[in-house]
Amino acid sequence: MQLETPRLEIRNLTRRYDGRVVVDDVSLRVGPGQVTCLLGPSGCGKSTTLRMIAGVEMQDSGEIWVDGSLICDTVFRVPPERRHIGLMFQDFALFPHLTVGANVAFGLSGDKTEMDKRVLELLKRVGMGRFVDSYPHELSGGEQQRVALARALAPRPRIMLMDEPFSGLDNRLRDGIRDETLDILREQDTAVLLVTHEPEEAMRMADEIALMRDGRIIQQGAPYNIYNAPVDRDSVAFFSDINVIRGRVEGSLVQTAFGQFLAPGAHEGNEVDIVIRPQHMKIDFDRQGRGPDPTIEYGTAARGVVRRARFMGSESLIEFKMDHDGSTLRATVPNVFLPSPGKPLWLMIRRDRCFVFPVKKD
Ligand SMILES: Nc1ncnc2c1ncn2[C@@H]1O[C@H](COP(=O)(O)OP(=O)(O)O)[C@@H](O)[C@H]1O
Ligand SMILES: [Mg+2]
Repeated sequence: MQLETPRLEIRNLTRRYDGRVVVDDVSLRVGPGQVTCLLGPSGCGKSTTLRMIAGVEMQDSGEIWVDGSLICDTVFRVPPERRHIGLMFQDFALFPHLTVGANVAFGLSGDKTEMDKRVLELLKRVGMGRFVDSYPHELSGGEQQRVALARALAPRPRIMLMDEPFSGLDNRLRDGIRDETLDILREQDTAVLLVTHEPEEAMRMADEIALMRDGRIIQQGAPYNIYNAPVDRDSVAFFSDINVIRGRVEGSLVQTAFGQFLAPGAHEGNEVDIVIRPQHMKIDFDRQGRGPDPTIEYGTAARGVVRRARFMGSESLIEFKMDHDGSTLRATVPNVFLPSPGKPLWLMIRRDRCFVFPVKKD
């Protein structure tokens, strides 16, 4: 239970377009200084959720609360400009006739010297200090985006809604800008709701991730928990490449070429998917047609031949064709390991790192 009043709370938000539900009963809380990521594939309803909180779109049902006060339900509605919510959306637009400095100062009021100081400080922190007197058309897309970020941060909003705000920046620049932006928001105790379709971005930035699919939040929690205790096969696959081994529950166990697996929650006779990430496969050498002995931690080894091996920088990816059923499995190992195609090797599956899910019937 969260004792502190959440800065932002949405309750049961629902939105339909032409009778189709695109945001389906979404509830969330974000505390001051906390970053929550709404993470999900394109089209799952993330931007629509954010637009409702911003007040530029109306929900069909549900409520939005800020610091314990209702700001919007289906009857009562505080207009967007009075919500004091900062916005950084994909389709940001700078004022073309104003300098970079004037763009950032736009929402500020008060002492001119103080304002100029704040504007320059923010521009410096997003790496745009020397462009204070430039005009937007003199900047690249990525530079304009950084100015838009500084502009959104300048009024010290209580709540910041960000929709893929770093998507236009190249990789090297992006990490720095992301960290800097979060530092600024945390210093100001802002509650941040960040939308992204990139798991790495969510893991890097979020205190809490709300995983969204088909308009619904299917799982919510700390990044570690979302990654290590996924609710279904698709959630594992959303974060990384996966291997899937199908089996059937018999005598409350699943028998496979990799030995037995427990199938908690699955019923006798059910089909289940054993899902394992490539980095949790163990590779062992072939000893004249024999593999390693079974262990409790890794079960039984199954043999395959290398189909291809690729060096990926920090790890190597090896693809196998399995002897027992011709299926393809992938394993990654740290650093360089590049066995030749055709080489027989043995694979094992870490029991504490695989997930067993009942097969969904569509
Ligand atoms: N104004 C609209 N009219 C009709 N359908 C819309 C409108 N806006 C979004 N949608 C649909 O709602 C779904 C969710 O969209 P969106 O919230 O933009 O997803 P995301 O941001 O997760 O990619 C999509 O299928 C999209 O096509
Ligand atoms: Mg979107």
